[in-house]
Amino acid sequence: MATITIGNKGLLRSHTCGELRIDHKDSKVSLCGWVNKSRDLGGLHFIDLRDKYGLTQLSFKEFKGDLGILKKCHLESTLRVTGEVRTRPEDARNKNMATGEVELMVESIELLSACDIESLPFLPHGTQEATENLKLKYRYLDLRSTRLQKILKIRSQATIDVRNILNEEDFIEVETPILYKSTPEGARDYIVPSRVHPGQVYALPQSPQTLKQLLMIGGTDKYFQICRCFRDEDLRADRQPEFSQIDMEVSFTTPSYIKSLVEKIVTKLFKFESGFSMPIMSYSQVMEVYGSDKPDIRFGLEQRIVTDLFKDSEFAVLSGPAQNGGLIKTMFVPAENGSFSRKDTDGFVDIVKPHGGKGVAFFKVNNGERSAGISKFIDDQIMKRLEESTGFSGDGTWLFFADLKPSVVHSCADALRRHLGKKLELIGEGYAFLWVNDFPLLDYDEEAKRFVAMHHPFTMPMEEDVEKFLQGGKENWEQVRAEAYDVVCNGYELGGGSIRIHRGDVQRKMFEALGMSEEETQHQFGFFLEALRYGVPPHGGLAFGLDRIVMLMTGTDSIRDVIAFPKTTSATDLMAQAPSTPGTAQLKELHMNFTK
Ligand code: AMO
Repeated sequence: MATITIGNKGLLRSHTCGELRIDHKDSKVSLCGWVNKSRDLGGLHFIDLRDKYGLTQLSFKEFKGDLGILKKCHLESTLRVTGEVRTRPEDARNKNMATGEVELMVESIELLSACDIESLPFLPHGTQEATENLKLKYRYLDLRSTRLQKILKIRSQATIDVRNILNEEDFIEVETPILYKSTPEGARDYIVPSRVHPGQVYALPQSPQTLKQLLMIGGTDKYFQICRCFRDEDLRADRQPEFSQIDMEVSFTTPSYIKSLVEKIVTKLFKFESGFSMPIMSYSQVMEVYGSDKPDIRFGLEQRIVTDLFKDSEFAVLSGPAQNGGLIKTMFVPAENGSFSRKDTDGFVDIVKPHGGKGVAFFKVNNGERSAGISKFIDDQIMKRLEESTGFSGDGTWLFFADLKPSVVHSCADALRRHLGKKLELIGEGYAFLWVNDFPLLDYDEEAKRFVAMHHPFTMPMEEDVEKFLQGGKENWEQVRAEAYDVVCNGYELGGGSIRIHRGDVQRKMFEALGMSEEETQHQFGFFLEALRYGVPPHGGLAFGLDRIVMLMTGTDSIRDVIAFPKTTSATDLMAQAPSTPGTAQLKELHMNFTK
């Protein structure tokens, strides 16, 4: 008699739907799962039962009960079946199915939960794609897909791996508050009104930045946390209003320790050979060469600054910016990478327009002959100087980006580079990591007429720039570099960090540079400035964006794929319908009154 192997860890099933093989032949097993497919071949009934581990074919050939139950076992219903494992007849074996050599000869069946098939919005394993909004509204159905389950598993394993590495390095995981005070990272805060303190709010942390620094001041030495951060900002394919960071901070550290730690984590997660080391580029280098501080370096299409060559040009589009403090960059597309029709070059303007560009000037070189676009403004002498100063040469297309605002030039060049990288299929496989450092500490916002922090206000100026920073003044501040670094991969900013300000005078100066009054500084950061008076270990750290790491690990370009319950680009949860209008009683209790 066959033995019953039920009772495996107290579960309703003895095996999963992906587990049975020829070795299980003749054993009696129980399976639980969803009806994935149901067939009636002229009285011979089969069901493919599915769970996250796989599919098993159920056969009802020897079923002694009432087959009428199968009428209620609609697709996506959950079942528990018990029976004997049989090898399938030779001609019925399915090589594409892990369990394809066997089937379960069902003896008993329990319909655990019938699926209301008439109302089911879509089949998670169906052949017809549902719209993204429908899938988000019924996220629990979409989560039944193999793809999303696989991503959840990869994400879970990534956090386990990170915890193990950091544990080995003596880090301890510390939880920090969610109901807190503004922690500026350059976005708007989400705030939570207080019932107990009328008219007052908590702010949800944009990151635990000040908290992890206070942990260092508190002697924690090496902290990490896989934490949730909240930022009210415009959403994009790689941004969510709440997302997770692998957040780290270390006392008495150096940027090189942080880099080696990052490399250890990256090596593990991306399965690199040991000894992996990220190349380093400075902020000014990446901006000149790629027009972006998070370049995808898997392909070329490099750029160079050529402003000075066009000061005397007869072509006003270039000489204007060159003579008036603007910037001109050129990008060279070698002929072997591709050539452009008139329609292509006309279309470039549409790529740069959203970035403030008015157009893209160009000329072509074919067999050493210049033609098209602005070729009549490029004489032999300019051509020679172009080649000499850029190192670009040979047949191909020279593209030019010019504007009074350098940021417009860089964004346009970056946008067209990314567009052409895709269009010309230049982007290779794999991961290209990059460590970007030497950032400016502050960025002057021309519209607001004030400085903003390039990273956040707790970033230390480079040691040799500290005096200049303390002297103050726009000119000085514009030149100060930060002891900050970003981790970039395939065009994504995966992480950012820095050495922190541990001196009260420097921190005060930072708030002053950011245009905060003494009163504002005290109100927002008085407690933090006070903490800097009582013995501070120099410290630094970094935070990885966990969601973005998992995006790269799983090869998806939507952050929504790697979050179990994501929000739409307008920050709504379509499933639970959040945000929603509070009840009047709740509003009253919270002392709130909406004007709209
Ligand atoms: P930063 O603001 O650079 O640094 O954030 C660190 C990393 O978090 C990820 N990230 C996001 N991911 C998804 N959606 C978002 N809205 C989002 N915003 C940021 C990115 C980013 O590189 N406290 C500092 C870290 C430090 O200095 O230690 C911080 O938060 O991958």
